[in-house]
Amino acid sequence: MSIYNDIERVLVSQDEIAAICERLGKQITADYQGKERPILLGLLKGCVPFMSDLSKHIDLPIEIEYMDVSSYHGNITSSGDVKIRKDMNTSVMDRDILIAEDIVDTGKTLDTIVKLLRHRGAKSVEVVTLLDKPAGRVIPFTPKYIGTVVPKEFVVGYGLDYNELYRNIPYVGVLKPEIYKK
Ligand code: PRP
Ligand code: MN
Ligand code: MG
Repeated sequence: MSIYNDIERVLVSQDEIAAICERLGKQITADYQGKERPILLGLLKGCVPFMSDLSKHIDLPIEIEYMDVSSYHGNITSSGDVKIRKDMNTSVMDRDILIAEDIVDTGKTLDTIVKLLRHRGAKSVEVVTLLDKPAGRVIPFTPKYIGTVVPKEFVVGYGLDYNELYRNIPYVGVLKPEIYKK
């Protein structure tokens, strides 16, 4: 039994992910020059591998925070009900916030969290996402920093799960449909 048997094909390879992290890290380093302790805010759990690798390419005095947010609850479609399971530990008032995400699909998660952080008085709120799935959008949302665009297929790996599995695969792949249809 191997978890890799459940993957139909590789969509974003380990080499491609490494190149994306380097490119986005450099861009963020340039854009956030001179800002006072920006906060890189990861949305758990999907953000973990991407945020870890991306942050090593950001050469700035940043703070790292996490918020545990969920809307899929183990399903393949978004419930649209974005739940904050654990909030961040610091005030965002007058702070520059860069949210790190694994994927923007319907846009509901980021629409909810960006509005919340603005409401809480953040000075700026931007988003860096490894994957963008524009064909999945239900609410208009445009992330500032995008790793790569993916088609409307169910993707897993590198933080992305199906029913809490496959997050530990080191690349992004398409899950065999028979896995979620059974
Ligand atoms: C997934 C993914 C994003 C969000 C994107 O999280 O990690 O956070 O959904 O989808 P959306 O644009 O349709 O809102 P999920 O709710 O599955 O929680 P997880 O990160 O703990 O897996
Ligand atoms: Mn998530
Ligand atoms: Mg999930």
